[in-house]
Amino acid sequence: MRKCVIFDLDGTLTQSEEGIWNGVRYAARKLGFPEPDTETLHKFIGPPLGYSFREFMGMDEAMAETATTTYREYYNAGGLFENRVYPGVRRLLRTLRQEGWYIGVATGKPQKTSERVIAHFGLDRFIEKICGPTADHRADKIDLIRNALPEGWNAETDEIWMVGDRKFDVEGAIGAGVKSIGVGYGYGSEEELRTSGCTHYCATVQDVIDFLCPGAAAPVGAFLSIEGLDGSGKGTQIRLLTDVIDRYGFELQLTREPGGCPISEKLRDIILDKNNAEMDDVTEALLYAASRAQHVREVIRPAVAAGRVLLCDRFVDSSVAYQGGGRQLGVQRVLDINAPAVDGTMPMATVYLDVDHETSMARRAAATELDRLELAGDSFHARTEAGYRELIQRDPARFIVVDATRTPEEIGREIAEKVIARLMEAE
Ligand code: TYD
Repeated sequence: MRKCVIFDLDGTLTQSEEGIWNGVRYAARKLGFPEPDTETLHKFIGPPLGYSFREFMGMDEAMAETATTTYREYYNAGGLFENRVYPGVRRLLRTLRQEGWYIGVATGKPQKTSERVIAHFGLDRFIEKICGPTADHRADKIDLIRNALPEGWNAETDEIWMVGDRKFDVEGAIGAGVKSIGVGYGYGSEEELRTSGCTHYCATVQDVIDFLCPGAAAPVGAFLSIEGLDGSGKGTQIRLLTDVIDRYGFELQLTREPGGCPISEKLRDIILDKNNAEMDDVTEALLYAASRAQHVREVIRPAVAAGRVLLCDRFVDSSVAYQGGGRQLGVQRVLDINAPAVDGTMPMATVYLDVDHETSMARRAAATELDRLELAGDSFHARTEAGYRELIQRDPARFIVVDATRTPEEIGREIAEKVIARLMEAE
């Protein structure tokens, strides 16, 4: 049997209130209306805009039309991207494709806008057909669902589902003669969906996956790492990148080395303890590798196998740079020590925050108390930097090298763009 699923967009694939609310606030400000409170803003999601401006903000017909035009100014200039893909939705779409489903979208959002949002988030690769209202065709939900179906398919001979978060989606499905799944994570309530007669109710994205693709294997996720000298601004960039990865609907898991799981965190405490001044360089390198061996098996591999994006704050490159370069054990020797720990599990991309060792040390000295490694002196950091440079030269395709001397926002934008592109390529 051929299998087809048609999705609603807002509230089902993407969580879109941020841009919508900012657009309404913008229109209110520009036209001299008081800024609507949260309760009022909530009501704007779902109904046509003109209706909402009249009903919820007391505008007359003409003013509501001006407000709609003003709203669109804001929305089309970028508000439409103030939007997030629901966590798990990428995995849902990938799993459906893997299992041979045809995927369409039927939405009340204008066709062009919907296409832009879907392409922006890179969901277009999963979706065969997008149907929204156009200037010369103000279709209702029933028409939109029918149009989104593949040519010649029908509910008698093919398995067809409409998935949506509001009663309009369920009613549209009933009108179009197809089965419906109401989803509870969007803007409608379970009661609204059940009362309107959905065939099946799913509270979460995972429930939709389990219902449509029972027993399907999760598509593999991705392993990323981020590296840089102490003081390169890694912490800030991790925070910024985490938000972007989330926004695109990739399921992020953040971890760090040394550490990341109980055994490895205990090893971390030993390694970084300032009182362990007599620790031999070889001991240190082996402890890092031991901590990594546990972390790879207990955390990194299971996360990637479950379809998540695992972002690791430092990985084997740190050992090569710090122990191989900084401690002068040699690049190859440290790679050899780490071979059984890593055992072939390497990041598909590594962000390197590029600042020279003088800059990074100046930043650190101004910040916090230095730990044992950082007390090792300037030539240590020069050699560590050289270690990183050698690694980048050996494996240029894996590294995303970014100039980390700019503002955090500029650096963050470049990292986001490049990392998201790599993640999408790998899907
Ligand atoms: P981290 O906690 O990441 O410190 P920071 O936030 O300042 O980057 O790392 C602690 C220290 O451990 C850091 O100085 C780098 C060092 N390190 C190594 O020397 N080898 C390794 O393999 C790893 C993972 C870290």
